[in-house]
Parts: sequence; C-alpha cells; structure tokens
Amino acid sequence: MNTLSKIFTFFRKQSTLPSVQAYQQWAANYPATAHNLLMQVEHTAMLNLMPEVKERRVLDLASGTGRWGQWASTQGANIVIGCDNSVAMLNHSALIYRVLATVTAIPLPSASIDIILYGLAVGHSQTLKDVLTEVSRVLSIGGVALISDFHPALAWQGAQRTFQGQDGKTYAVEHYVHRYADWFAASQAAGLRITGVEEPHRPDQPHTAPIVFVLRLEKDSAMMNP
Ligand SMILES: C[S@@+](CC[C@H](N)C(=O)[O-])C[C@H]1O[C@@H](n2cnc3c(N)ncnc32)[C@H](O)[C@@H]1O
Repeated sequence: MNTLSKIFTFFRKQSTLPSVQAYQQWAANYPATAHNLLMQVEHTAMLNLMPEVKERRVLDLASGTGRWGQWASTQGANIVIGCDNSVAMLNHSALIYRVLATVTAIPLPSASIDIILYGLAVGHSQTLKDVLTEVSRVLSIGGVALISDFHPALAWQGAQRTFQGQDGKTYAVEHYVHRYADWFAASQAAGLRITGVEEPHRPDQPHTAPIVFVLRLEKDSAMMNP
C-alpha cells in the first residue's frame, strides 16, 4: 500500500462521519506535525505563500492539535490562538490560547487578527461563502489568510479522508468539494483578494494530478467590505 492510499481511500465507499464525531475518535492519533506525505507537501506549499509572521497576531483556524499555531509560535508571532469545534482535538493541542468554536462564528472581534492559517479543514464546511465572510471579518486590513485542503481533483477521483475508528473500522470524514470558481466568487463576496495559489503534486509523481490546494487571500481595503 503506498503512502497516499494510507491517507485516502479511493472508490471503496466508507461509512462517513460528521466532522465532530470523526475527530472525537481521531484526536488521540493526530500529532501536531506534518505526519504523512500529503501534510508534508501541504507544509511546503503553505510556506511558499506565507507572509512574515513575526510579531503578528495569528489565528490557527480549525487548528486541530495546533500544528500551524505551534509553527507560528516558533516564528515569533505576537499572539497565537487556536480555534476548533472539536473538544477532543483542542484537548490534544499544546497551544496556550484555544477556543471551542465553529469557523463561521469565531468569538473574536472584527479586524483583530493579522494572519489566519487554516490547514486541511475547509472541505469539512459546506458553504464557502459563510466561511470566507467570517475569515474576512476577523482579519485586519492587509491581513492574510492561507487556506489549504486536499486538492478537489483528488476528491473528484473518489478520494475520501479516512481514519481508523476506535472499533478498528475505517471511516471517512464528511467532505465538500469546492471548485476554483467557488473560491473566486466567495472571496470576491467577502472582500478578499486571491494573491497566491499552490497546487503541488506528489514529489515523486510530477505528472499526476495535484494532491494539495493552497490559497492565499488578502483583506484588501480597496475591495467591498461585507
Ligand atoms: C484534518 S484536521 C486539520 C487540523 C490542523 N488544521 C492541521 O492542519 O493539522 C481538521 C480539523 O478541522 C476541524 N473542523 C472541522 N470543521 C470545523 C468547523 N466547522 N469549525 C471549526 N473546526 C472545524 C476538525 O475538528 C479538525 O480538528
């Protein structure tokens, strides 16, 4: 079995769990590191688009066990806050500031964050417009959001994000495919400008479909604020 098929299950339909139920079971085995090939590829792609983090206010959105928040702390961020809707994932996080909330109702004031790092989670949300409207609200003018997920091309090929449940069975986590056109429309509506895109392949298979999608969005004073 190759590394990608350990992370994803192609074509074989698995029982699908809602995100909160899935991560309740997965949390104990979800280290705050890039612990598989897809995450390593995503890590490099995120860094390619990363703004200066030093002395900035950083929100690790859908933080899980705090992988991106921990990275931001090592880079000298002024403050780092993790936000996730899974108690179990937050309990396994080493971030000092953690808040239990959904990505569409972040309990922070408007314009209070300079950088949002939102790794490998947006596919769990069905409505991109609601997510990006909230991302835009908490970002300061000139603030940047980096948002990653596994690539829509993989999802269209039938890939599912899977994990082994506590009963030993394999489960998929709910996932909604967002096309580039959806991203463009939702970004425009939220007053966010797309300032970077990465679509890396597996490093050992450069001629196959990309496996990761990363978008860099900037809160732009020139664009309409929602
Ligand atoms: C694949 S994990 C990624 C965790 C972390 N961002 C990382 O890259 O290592 C997805 C995370 O998104 C969280 N999540 C899913 N839907 C969410 C929502 N609507 N609001 C907040 N967190 C959510 C899950 O609880 C889980 O911790």
